[in-house]
Amino acid sequence: MEDDRSLRAELRALPVFSAPSPFLDYSDLPDSPSDLFRVWLRAAIASGVPEPHAMTLATVDPDGAPDARILILKDQVGDEWLFASSSTSAQSGCLTSD
Ligand SMILES: Cc1cc2nc3c(=O)[nH]c(=O)nc-3n(C[C@H](O)[C@H](O)[C@H](O)COP(=O)(O)O)c2cc1C
Repeated sequence: MEDDRSLRAELRALPVFSAPSPFLDYSDLPDSPSDLFRVWLRAAIASGVPEPHAMTLATVDPDGAPDARILILKDQVGDEWLFASSSTSAQSGCLTSD
């Protein structure tokens, strides 16, 4: 059986924030966060990020209990993000089926 202590040591030896973050010029950002999202998504697509349209959607129910799951983005128009989901899913009430 694998020694769990060795994984702990391997994890702790890994660098964190080892590369500088890309420069972000705040004066050059679009006014709308949705527009910025599209700029960054297109940059991810252009740079070959695998499945850049797979994203985690987090919601809360009326009691404030959070839930999150991975969905494929089908479209993004204005301030609306459109995902496809099974109509039987617990979160389908807040999603758009495609
Ligand atoms: C990469 C990836 C993409 C996914 N895309 C979708 C999706 O577009 N629609 C969907 O309903 N579930 C998708 N899933 C599965 C959901 O994350 C979730 O596990 C599944 O829909 C069950 O959700 P439920 O428990 O609310 O029924 C994806 C999972 C992964 C790992």
